[in-house]
Amino acid sequence: MNVSIIGTGYVGLTTGACLAFLGHKVTCIDADERKVKALQAGKIPFYEPHLPELVAGARHNLSFTTEYAQSIPTSQVIFIAVGTPPGQNGAPDLKYLEAAARGIGEYLSGDFVVVVNKSTVPIGSGNWVESIVRDAYEKRTSKKANGVFAVASNPEFLREGSAIFDSLYPDRVVVGSDNQRTAEVLYSLYRPLLEQTFIAPSYLPRPDRMGAVPLISADLASAELIKYAANAFLALKISYINEIGQLAEKVGADITQVAKGIGLDARIGTRFLQAGIGWGGSCFGKDTAALVATAGEYGLDAGIVKAAREMNRRQRERVVDKLLDELKILKGRTICLLGLAFKPDTDDLREAPALDIARKLIERGARVKAHDPVAMSRFLQEYPDLDVTLCASAEEAAQDCDAVVLVTEWQQYRELDWESIKNSMRGQVLLDGRNLLDRARLAKAGFRYLSLAG
Ligand SMILES: NC(=O)c1ccc[n+]([C@@H]2O[C@H](COP(=O)([O-])OP(=O)(O)OC[C@H]3O[C@@H](n4cnc5c(N)ncnc54)[C@H](O)[C@@H]3O)[C@@H](O)[C@H]2O)c1
Repeated sequence: MNVSIIGTGYVGLTTGACLAFLGHKVTCIDADERKVKALQAGKIPFYEPHLPELVAGARHNLSFTTEYAQSIPTSQVIFIAVGTPPGQNGAPDLKYLEAAARGIGEYLSGDFVVVVNKSTVPIGSGNWVESIVRDAYEKRTSKKANGVFAVASNPEFLREGSAIFDSLYPDRVVVGSDNQRTAEVLYSLYRPLLEQTFIAPSYLPRPDRMGAVPLISADLASAELIKYAANAFLALKISYINEIGQLAEKVGADITQVAKGIGLDARIGTRFLQAGIGWGGSCFGKDTAALVATAGEYGLDAGIVKAAREMNRRQRERVVDKLLDELKILKGRTICLLGLAFKPDTDDLREAPALDIARKLIERGARVKAHDPVAMSRFLQEYPDLDVTLCASAEEAAQDCDAVVLVTEWQQYRELDWESIKNSMRGQVLLDGRNLLDRARLAKAGFRYLSLAG
């Protein structure tokens, strides 16, 4: 099929590359000229494992442009994957979505096309997008848009850092539409994925027990709510284990053992039960805020989701509180942050806890040094005013510091020569914000080992 993807970010580029890999002819459209030029030159604008190989391998089916005119008129399926950043009062800012919908309406040819919302959008946005595409089409052609297009919702569940794996081997595909023909088009588009009939790439083999992928066919509103409900639930799990972690600390329990003990109950599951600094990233904060805002519009109080948000906010403060307890005075101290990205295997810094923690420490007069395996160049581009000294290695970042805070659980930090790091430091405090490190080994190396829980 001919497919257009509007918005070539983490979601749009991954989706485009996967669909091209599955054999579709994909055109990725982005408003950012620099990004498109880089992609045309074969450069991937962000760090995502295996994306370069996937894009290179699917090159013959993949093109990049800033021009809607280049592919919208000939597409059978058009995905919208533009950003929906936080706006006022918790609701997302939909200006990119609106521009994309208008752009589609201005270039539709008149042959039936499915417009798919992959961006995370508030409930009811499907109808709103429909009206914008319709208005733009009717204004341009002076013809009725009936039968020219239909809107579907196809929420995205990929995790940055394992986006390609999640896209090729998803737990489920959710399609929301109020129209049978639309559902059929999307079924054919995704057939190789749903039936797992494609030849798996050598660098990402199919998991052993992978069967057919369940397709959840829903109405538009249900599909839109599924996305918010899923993200909010994952956020709740993290905040819940952090709440239990606080109690574990008081009663002298080990939260990693507690998490394992409850997570192995199949009804609960071990994932998203890692106590620590809490979530960051572009989705959980924004989507939980949007869910609270939507509930409020209907006179409901999403109290559980609100509490999860508050717990997450407090975990970042607790990092500074713990350092203050240990060091007594932060003014004039030098603190090393290990990890800047909001999680490992990505360079995404949106809502990253490290940014908040660095700001709070600087406000209190501390100097901040930091290291991240992949996110430092993005940090320099996006946060030139945040006064953090970036270092080429974790060892260099820790040198002469009063305390080290492990913020992002990059596996390589586990393997560091902690003994020699300790010897190069001025102080001895190590705050393991992700319960990643071997407490006994660090204590033996002479560290005063702290964590946020137990
Ligand atoms: N990043 C994730 O892990 C993730 C996971 C699931 C869902 N989502 C949702 O997917 C959506 C996209 O997220 P992302 O992280 O890929 O965003 P992103 O910021 O990485 O990419 C968005 C892209 O859209 C482009 N764009 C904006 N307006 C445009 C327009 N009118 N025409 C063409 N291009 C335009 C921007 O230049 C940018 O390249 C959001 O709604 C997000 O909530 C993201």
